[in-house]
Amino acid sequence: MRIDIITVVPDLLKSPFEASILKRSIEKKLVEIHIHNLRDYTTLSYKQIDDYQYGGGAGMVMMVEPIDKCISKLKGERDYDEVIYLTPDGEVLNQAMANTLSLKGNLILLCGHYKGVDQRVRELFITREISIGDYVLSGGELAAAVLCDSIIRLIPGVLGNETSALTDAFQDDLLSPPIYTRPSTYKGLEVPKILLSGHQRKVDEWRDEKALERTKELRPDLLKED
Ligand code: 6GU
Repeated sequence: MRIDIITVVPDLLKSPFEASILKRSIEKKLVEIHIHNLRDYTTLSYKQIDDYQYGGGAGMVMMVEPIDKCISKLKGERDYDEVIYLTPDGEVLNQAMANTLSLKGNLILLCGHYKGVDQRVRELFITREISIGDYVLSGGELAAAVLCDSIIRLIPGVLGNETSALTDAFQDDLLSPPIYTRPSTYKGLEVPKILLSGHQRKVDEWRDEKALERTKELRPDLLKED
């Protein structure tokens, strides 16, 4: 998989890809991440990429031309499955969307800033708009990093134990059951006996039951049929 990220703040996107699982997935060549500074695609003085809105109003708008130059260059080099605009107006990211996107070959992510992009960017290039939740961030970069993490960890070979993504919370629309490691007693709190029993079927049943209890209590919305 290849992900091209277009941003006005490339520095914000560095460290997430320089540590832990994402770093290793790049080293193992399971994914390529290419970060593009939108300011490299403007012909205007002071590397301007935004301007005032027609009709007036507070906040700057990202101009169509530099975005066109950047996306058109990339599309001239290879085909892309999706051109995703990260914006609080988008469809809210969930596990099903991450699963779908993890099967794609090439993605472009455009990070929104200021008031957002000129509407013609959407009309010309954007195939999908994604938000990571109902709150506003200063820009789409952190959201892009979250989206990349959620996608990349699902690529076969990225996680050491491939079954571990399949047993994640949300993969079956449930929260995770409680988990424990050593010691078996800590400050008087005991690990549930069933987990020490060695009886795998009973352990599995217990986990399913606890996952359902937890979901009913904390996220009943996940259990509603859609
Ligand atoms: Cl994708 N962008 C911004 N600026 N804020 C957000 C978001 C994206 N998702 C949630 N809040």
